[in-house]
Amino acid sequence: MIEKEGKEMEEIWKRSNHIAFIVCLTLLLSVLMETGQGIKNAYAGDVVVDPGKKVFGERCMVCHGDKGNGKGPAGIIRNSEKGGRILLVRPRDFTTGVFRFRSTPTGCMPVDNDLLRLVDLGIPRSFMPPHKDKLSPEEKKAVIEYIKTFAKRWKEESPCEAIPVKQPKYVGSRSSIEKGLTVYKKMKCWECHGDDGRGGGGKADKIKDDWGNPIPPFNFTSGALKRGGTPEDVYITFTTGLDGTGMPSYEDSLNEEERWDLVSYTLKLMGLVK
Ligand code: HEC
Ligand code: HEC
Repeated sequence: MIEKEGKEMEEIWKRSNHIAFIVCLTLLLSVLMETGQGIKNAYAGDVVVDPGKKVFGERCMVCHGDKGNGKGPAGIIRNSEKGGRILLVRPRDFTTGVFRFRSTPTGCMPVDNDLLRLVDLGIPRSFMPPHKDKLSPEEKKAVIEYIKTFAKRWKEESPCEAIPVKQPKYVGSRSSIEKGLTVYKKMKCWECHGDDGRGGGGKADKIKDDWGNPIPPFNFTSGALKRGGTPEDVYITFTTGLDGTGMPSYEDSLNEEERWDLVSYTLKLMGLVK
């Protein structure tokens, strides 16, 4: 009887140990899972709150820097142009909020479409790669919003509207090219770009960009235009200017026809029309 009781006690003891063990294990697991979940949540939270930061980190930071000041690990790129000119290419510093390739009047911020276009197509002669097929529409939108966090201008200034562009038929015609040459002379484009359009005008060596770096005027025979090579792209460059580079806007000083004639002459200098 006593022996039997003893055995039973032992069984109960064993079973309760077992139960205690299971309870402990469950507690431990739940604590671990809780922490794990916590870590996962923080991570997921970060990604959800700022997908733009993630894209920027993966795709843009190497050049533009984690602070958006253009001082990434691939900060200065040396480029030897067709024709032999060596250029130092610097990724844009986003902290001043000055942009070159806009569809908005000089002094304005770009519209989202301008930025989207740059992200899609990249910038020729500047080594900025195209991302058209590499990012989803949401990722592109997110990274554009993220760029806007680097400069106060985005919060302080009201947005400008894009200037509409419609190319007239005469662009590229012989008479338009001739008139364009006259405008090129009258507006002294040659002071920077040279008589032959090779970028060696008298002022060429003295031009500095907004960040104090020398910026050589475009050599028309050196290849692709940074903004893009269609007549509309060139027209919008003359209309908006390239803010931060010394290349002015001609929106007020030339009428639309004169600007289109200048496009014709540019295409001629670039060897794109006869
Ligand atoms: C390999 C280097 C490189 C990478 C990568 C790069 N960029 Fe750039 N980016 C440049 C350079 C260089 C410029 C300056 C171009 C110039 O004005 O000649 C520039 C200019 C810009 C500009 C300013 C254009 C203007 O109108 O003034 C924007 C906006 C921009 N980059 C966005 C991005 C975004 C967004 C990414 C990532 C998705 C990115 N860049 C990745 C090199 C790079
Ligand atoms: C004060 C000097 C200066 C004057 C005047 C000037 N430019 Fe420029 N231009 C520049 C600089 C600097 C650049 C290069 C900007 C860059 O590389 O980002 C440039 C770039 C360009 C480009 C190339 C844009 C692109 O997409 O790559 C064209 C085309 C151009 N200029 C045409 C003209 C014409 C035509 C005139 C006269 C109506 C003119 N420029 C007057 C300094 C000047």
